Amino acid sequence: MFTYDAKEKLFQDKVILVTGAGAGIGKAAALNLAKLGATIVLLGRTTQKLSDVYDAIEAAGGPQAAIIPMNLESAGPKDFQDLADAIENEFGKLDGILHNASILGSLTPLANFDPQKWLNVMQVNVNSAFLMTQHLLPSLKKADNASILFTSSSVGRKGRAYWGAYSVSKFATEGLMQVLADELDENTNVRANCINPGATRTSMRANAYPGENPNTLATPDDIMPAYLYLLGDDSIGVNGKTFDAQKPNDQQPE
Ligand SMILES: NC(=O)c1ccc[n+]([C@@H]2O[C@H](COP(=O)([O-])OP(=O)(O)OC[C@H]3O[C@@H](n4cnc5c(N)ncnc54)[C@H](OP(=O)(O)O)[C@@H]3O)[C@@H](O)[C@H]2O)c1
Repeated sequence: MFTYDAKEKLFQDKVILVTGAGAGIGKAAALNLAKLGATIVLLGRTTQKLSDVYDAIEAAGGPQAAIIPMNLESAGPKDFQDLADAIENEFGKLDGILHNASILGSLTPLANFDPQKWLNVMQVNVNSAFLMTQHLLPSLKKADNASILFTSSSVGRKGRAYWGAYSVSKFATEGLMQVLADELDENTNVRANCINPGATRTSMRANAYPGENPNTLATPDDIMPAYLYLLGDDSIGVNGKTFDAQKPNDQQPE
């Protein structure tokens, strides 16, 4: 596991947007970031799940969160401009984005892959992350230091049979991060990296591996150290890299 001890109040006065914040890894990230002082913009498609996370943050004494219900499958440029306007009006800056929401689509040979399902996976996993990043860059540039963290997967680094659109979308996510990071020159205050959570106990993993015993897997809370490091100021200067949340610090990909 990547190890990192986040100092208390690491995210004080920081505003972090988490997509897919209502469940799984996104929910754990929202709760852990808020515990360290972050104001979280909770974005996802199921309002009830976002409200539950909002309440949990409040009950734990964290800063009041914001809820943005958005279906990334149907959202277009106007929706992302509205999101950017809302963040600008409410906070005047954005200190980080965790691009976490994704869908699996089907595990099927390419020969049989449903074309509409392919487009849906690309829309949620890649295109929406591009559009959101593009519209939020001006607010990120207003923060002292901002971090954009994209979520990858081991099948986004080496293709695997039947993983279809999901695998290709994660290769594209790594590419999107690299192109963006290369454009964010050394003097800018914004950095971009990727995180591969590794096998983690969530409903997405259970859908992909229905026969697996979930108790053998890391929980979303277990993998948080790498997320907190990459989103917080201790990773200033780290840009264009990809990380494995479940590998030790000295065994990260080159
Ligand atoms: N779990 C693993 O083993 C594993 C391994 C490698 C990579 N990952 C990656 O880690 C990230 C988190 O995965 P997870 O396992 O936590 O998955 P999860 O439990 O299925 O959670 C995914 C989240 O994304 C949201 N979401 C899905 N479609 C959306 C849409 N159209 N619009 C807005 N939000 C949407 C979901 O909202 P609803 O709850 O409302 O549906 C949910 O909150 C993903 O990028 C995934 O690819 C996970």
